[in-house]
Amino acid sequence: MLNSLQKKWKVNGAQFVLILCTFAVTGTLTAFISRSITSWLGFDEFTPLFWKVLVRLSVLVFGYQVIILIVSFIFGQFRFFWNYEKKILKRMGFINKTKEVVKPYRLAIFASGKGSNAEKIIQYFDKEPLIQVKLIVCNKAGAGVLDIAKAWNIETLLIEKNAFIESNQYVKHLENEGITHIILAGFLWKIPQTLIKAYPNKILNIHPALLPNFGGKGMYGEKVHQSVIAAGDKESGITIHLVDEHYDHGKTIFQVKTEITSVDTPDTLAEKIHILEHEHYPKVIEEWLGAE
Ligand code: GRF
Repeated sequence: MLNSLQKKWKVNGAQFVLILCTFAVTGTLTAFISRSITSWLGFDEFTPLFWKVLVRLSVLVFGYQVIILIVSFIFGQFRFFWNYEKKILKRMGFINKTKEVVKPYRLAIFASGKGSNAEKIIQYFDKEPLIQVKLIVCNKAGAGVLDIAKAWNIETLLIEKNAFIESNQYVKHLENEGITHIILAGFLWKIPQTLIKAYPNKILNIHPALLPNFGGKGMYGEKVHQSVIAAGDKESGITIHLVDEHYDHGKTIFQVKTEITSVDTPDTLAEKIHILEHEHYPKVIEEWLGAE
């Protein structure tokens, strides 16, 4: 039951626990406040039942909604509960249902390799009207990801290094296309400041190792897995993180590990990592967007 609730709310495990804590603390706090108010008002056994019920109900129905927002803020879950409150206010008729227009997320995927991650993401959101993959940005003519874009009928943009680093022509292009978020999936160039400024905390990257280890300039593809094996590590994994001005550096939002056995080679490790990436990247993107 808890699992299906977590799926319904589209939150990760840690968030789910914090949400349950918010409910529990709010319930206890509301009951306490309600008792304190009635005792402050001097209610006793001679107070008419009507007044008792009225005051208690007011605290429970209206006070609860305010308290839950305060508690959720403390637990870092304000956004989730604010959305939840909006739904309640809508049901109660305080918010006009027709006024809120839900705008879809429009993603640009930056990729320059085979594009297997890009394809999984495209597939995952194919029937999802609120999350749309609108553009594939690529810096390599002939890259596999361009064929994938073609097969899925997604617009592509082939970019050139100097213009990417030194001008904001591509930023303008993305903005004109109404791109709301950027997903890096096998894109090797450093993201310039202009793009980070235009999309603050809205660019996500996937790295095929457990950052902060085995990341940074030049750490990509096979080199990562070769280094992990050469270091004799017993586990590797994937890291999904926000992008800042340094290579493989922004805030980590998801990691998952896989075991490295004595028979593993860089190639078999690469396969294991790809399986993890394909399974998790689309879901993490969905949760990340949902948590905004
Ligand atoms: C992935 O391993 C990803 O972690 C890294 O680049 C690779 C892209 O692979 N950033 P593919 O092109 O999606 O198959």
